[in-house]
Amino acid sequence: MPHAFQKCIHPDCAAEYDLGQTLPKCPKCGNLLDIVYDWNRLPLPDDPKKLGIPPSSWPAGGMGALSGVWRFGDLIPFAPPEKRVSIGEGHTQLRRSPNAASYAGINKETFRLQYEGLNPSGSFKDNGMAGAFTHANMVGAKVAACASTGNTSASLAAFASASGLMRAIIFIGDGKIAYGKLSQALDYGAVTLLVKGDFDDAMARVQEVSAMEGIYLVNSVNPFRLEGQKTTMYRVLEGLGWEVPDWIVCPGGNLGNSSAFAKALYELHDLGLIRKMPRLAVVNSSGAPTLSRLVNQHGLTWNGGRPDEKIIADYYAHLDSSGEKAHTLASAIEINRPVNLRKCLRALDRTNGVALDVSDQQILDAKAWIARDGLGCEPASAASVAGAKALVEQGVIDRDSSVACILTGHQLKDPHATVAYHSFTEEKLRESYGEFGVATSAFANHPIRVANSVDDIIDNIRRATAAQ
Ligand code: F0G
Repeated sequence: MPHAFQKCIHPDCAAEYDLGQTLPKCPKCGNLLDIVYDWNRLPLPDDPKKLGIPPSSWPAGGMGALSGVWRFGDLIPFAPPEKRVSIGEGHTQLRRSPNAASYAGINKETFRLQYEGLNPSGSFKDNGMAGAFTHANMVGAKVAACASTGNTSASLAAFASASGLMRAIIFIGDGKIAYGKLSQALDYGAVTLLVKGDFDDAMARVQEVSAMEGIYLVNSVNPFRLEGQKTTMYRVLEGLGWEVPDWIVCPGGNLGNSSAFAKALYELHDLGLIRKMPRLAVVNSSGAPTLSRLVNQHGLTWNGGRPDEKIIADYYAHLDSSGEKAHTLASAIEINRPVNLRKCLRALDRTNGVALDVSDQQILDAKAWIARDGLGCEPASAASVAGAKALVEQGVIDRDSSVACILTGHQLKDPHATVAYHSFTEEKLRESYGEFGVATSAFANHPIRVANSVDDIIDNIRRATAAQ
């Protein structure tokens, strides 16, 4: 048996494929694939503190040597080191955040934010793209594509131009992308297709087109993407001295990240490298609540790998017949048909996890508190803290629990809603964002209009600083 292979997640199929194949889904049954390792044949330390090459001892030279993903290469061992691709991703931080902690109602000593916005393209997607590009490099792909709400496409475009290994083609729902992200894809030279429709349409089309044209697909149906995304969990645990937190809270869109997090955690647990499993909370926006609704209202579960497919089919049929489209100002997670739904059900099962949804108002309010600790994130990321707060209020998360919320994307990705929140009157805010249910900006830091006069400026500075 080889040391790593691809395997269908459905227990009745469980077909295996070698690493050299490029398969967006199981050719036998159409389900998602996992990367599975024969850990007995792979060298791993018995003490987790010995995992991960510490930054101070990284070898000099070569992009891969500087990667916060590949320094955990022992835990994602599907590629020979010389095939690894990196743009210096994964230099992210686990930070304390006293303001966000008090807003969420959690002890500031036990609350942390994992700031993945520090990645080279400004989001966690670079972790996964390092994995997908490495596999693409192994199989000699020359063209790669994705559908995206913006961050995956920015990451793909950056990797393609930085590595020079392949051309990038991106499928965007026309008008469904924040400008920060669109500007990245255009600037990095990706072939940028604005598909008339939304993300769910773009996702369906890219799967068809890439299969027909033999294009390498880097969306998170690609199991190698998720191997890279496991490393966020390693960095959280490393930041906590390998003390396992009680909760990991992350936003949910296409549900790749949550699926990858759980895989990282249960692999470590199965290997005896951590002794307890954190619980995972996956937070949808109420404008795109598929996971939350299916789990909480329709009782959908992993069910040993055989989720009730009728519940899912009926839900999607209802979306079609009612014309209900995803609609949230957290555009990164504006997704109604998450491709990793089944893997995420497994993630919830393996971590005793929960799903919930929060309103766009809750998201923007949480975002303002996160930023008070000097951590800027885009709206979708703030769903994590908004979700943690909601779970504290529901009595699910205890005040003294140790909690790590994942900030998935940088503030500068999508500054429009931020500027509106802080500078619009509430009337103008309702006019612009009322369609998303945003009516107030209770935690706004209003800019001050001053005359072009030293006296007026000093007067305003004194009043503003005295008020604090
Ligand atoms: N946060 C941000 C900033 C994202 O860009 C995404 C997904 C998510 C959270 C949700 O993560 O899909 O793994 O559940 N963005 C994708 C994209 C869909 O195309 O960039 P997920």
